[in-house]
Amino acid sequence: MSTPKTAPAIELRDVRKSFGTTEIIRGANLVVPKGQRIAIIGPNGAGKSTLFNLISGRFRPTSGEILLNGENLSGLRPFQINRKGLSRSFQITNIFPRLTVFENLRCGVLWSLGYKYSFWHALERLRDARRRTEEVLELIGLERRRGTMAGLLTYAEQRALEIGITVAGGAEVILLDEPTAGMSRSESEHAVDLIRTVTEGKTLLMVEHDMSVVFGLADQISVVVYGEVIATDTPEKVRANARVQEAYLGTPAEEVH
Ligand SMILES: Nc1ncnc2c1ncn2[C@@H]1O[C@H](COP(=O)(O)OP(=O)(O)OP(=O)(O)O)[C@@H](O)[C@H]1O
Ligand SMILES: [Mg+2]
Repeated sequence: MSTPKTAPAIELRDVRKSFGTTEIIRGANLVVPKGQRIAIIGPNGAGKSTLFNLISGRFRPTSGEILLNGENLSGLRPFQINRKGLSRSFQITNIFPRLTVFENLRCGVLWSLGYKYSFWHALERLRDARRRTEEVLELIGLERRRGTMAGLLTYAEQRALEIGITVAGGAEVILLDEPTAGMSRSESEHAVDLIRTVTEGKTLLMVEHDMSVVFGLADQISVVVYGEVIATDTPEKVRANARVQEAYLGTPAEEVH
């Protein structure tokens, strides 16, 4: 048995999830070592977002175990898992469009600092929150947009804000679901730099379709096909893996950039 000290950040043991009679996740196994950046790739409908919903506690597995730092998450609610140091973004942009950039980030920070039911604690909490919000604002490069309503940002800025909200609370394990979807080449290059910066020293699990983003960021790639993790390996080895090419990439290795 692994001890919590040496335990991986995330571990999935034979996880299954059915919706009605349809089994969507069919015995998924995955180990994400602490401090690694892992990209999940796989065809549409393979179950990637469902895996994120299971890990973050939004869905409960039908069977199997999910561990965070060696601790079984069974029965925990999303906010409890969040307090244990796991934070996620959604595939669809998930911000408060009528709040400013600053207010959006502060929400993420306040949420993570937790509730303390006393006036003095509340004041202290607001000071801490302001400081941390400023830090994150700088980290994501949106200082000049601090007073702008989030709904008025460009799409790429909204996604950057969302990444900021996700990391605002200082979680050590970050899950990003297609953070560069819908971006231009230069926007996604910028997003890769941002993701690298904000996840420095942390564990990242990221769903990503764009191969240049995957190869630019990931230490390892896990391939999800039809509700199973069929391979986990270095980007180079995954690129060369015949089973992966057949199941997912559908092209000879040379064509994958
Ligand atoms: N809440 C739900 N109820 C019923 N079926 C669901 C639910 N959520 C997901 N599914 C189904 O599970 C399958 C996997 O969906 P999921 O969103 O996890 O795929 P994905 O790998 O993230 O795909 P994409 O690349 O398109 O984002 C799909 O067939 C989807 O319709
Ligand atoms: Mg998805």
